[in-house]
Amino acid sequence: MDAKIVSDGDSVFIPVTGDPGLDYQTGEMDTDELPLQKHYTDVLDLPPGLMELLPTSFDIVGDVFVLKLIDELLPYARDIAEALLETNRNAKVVALDKGVKGEFRTRDLEILAGENRTATVQKEYGLRYEMDLAKVYFSPRLATERKRISDLVKPGERVMDMFCGVGPFSIILAKTGKPSSVYAIDKNPEAIKYLVENIKLNKIKCVSPMLGDARDVAPKLPRPDRIIMNLPHSAIDFLDVALDIINPNGTIHLYMILESDSLEMMEKGIFHLSQSKKKKLKFGNVREVHTYSPTQNMFCLDLIIE
Ligand SMILES: C[S@@+](CC[C@H](N)C(=O)[O-])C[C@H]1O[C@@H](n2cnc3c(N)ncnc32)[C@H](O)[C@@H]1O
Repeated sequence: MDAKIVSDGDSVFIPVTGDPGLDYQTGEMDTDELPLQKHYTDVLDLPPGLMELLPTSFDIVGDVFVLKLIDELLPYARDIAEALLETNRNAKVVALDKGVKGEFRTRDLEILAGENRTATVQKEYGLRYEMDLAKVYFSPRLATERKRISDLVKPGERVMDMFCGVGPFSIILAKTGKPSSVYAIDKNPEAIKYLVENIKLNKIKCVSPMLGDARDVAPKLPRPDRIIMNLPHSAIDFLDVALDIINPNGTIHLYMILESDSLEMMEKGIFHLSQSKKKKLKFGNVREVHTYSPTQNMFCLDLIIE
């Protein structure tokens, strides 16, 4: 359904395909009367065979649309970007994503249309995160996952966010979970700079930003009850540190990119590592967070220490 939300006097009409089951007044309108929301493909004219290859979804961070294109579409990247700007009132910048690179996991972005900037403010669950997408890592696709973790935090817990970026895990859980402390570590000075801003912006008290390598910094901090390890390509290389410092009855949330059929083998490896560290570990929730490539997925393994 492509109908737009419309306002008329004191009323706002929200198009629905069925009874929303809410305490709102509902009514029917002839679809001919409704202004239609244009899709970006409606204003694009590409050579035959290319329209079907256009992406159906994008990462949207604040007012920046981040576009991934297959090689065949690259010659038309600017036309596609202009079409997105034209049909999305919220888009102020459209940037081409040329991949996430390096230790800091930053995106190589090329501005295709709109304003010449990559800094923006993302809103998630009533919180705001300032960032420059070309200088720090951020994924809007983890919003639900961050909320899930924040709902698990118990009042008074000590939390460590080992690879915190601009702080989206630390800040939501500090706001809603009432932990006693959150130590948020990152090696990227730009990420820590934005984290400091985001702590102020969201009026958070208990988050302490720590600049440095988690391997060196984490063992010097108070022992945590919960550790978030959101560095999916290499978090496993830091699991030995996490196992050394976690408190009894603590939980480690380990994010990993894996082929689905290698999950069992990975679990065995983790179990052996915990045994070598003389830690009793059981697997809690093991979930697919999102697809990463045609054959790989991002998983979160909740490791519960006894
Ligand atoms: C995938 S990002 C996750 C950021 C954040 N958790 C989020 O959800 O937006 C991983 C982060 O780990 C940081 N990082 C990479 N290696 C690190 C290390 N050895 N110690 C601390 N931080 C590191 C990167 O700079 C990056 O900000």
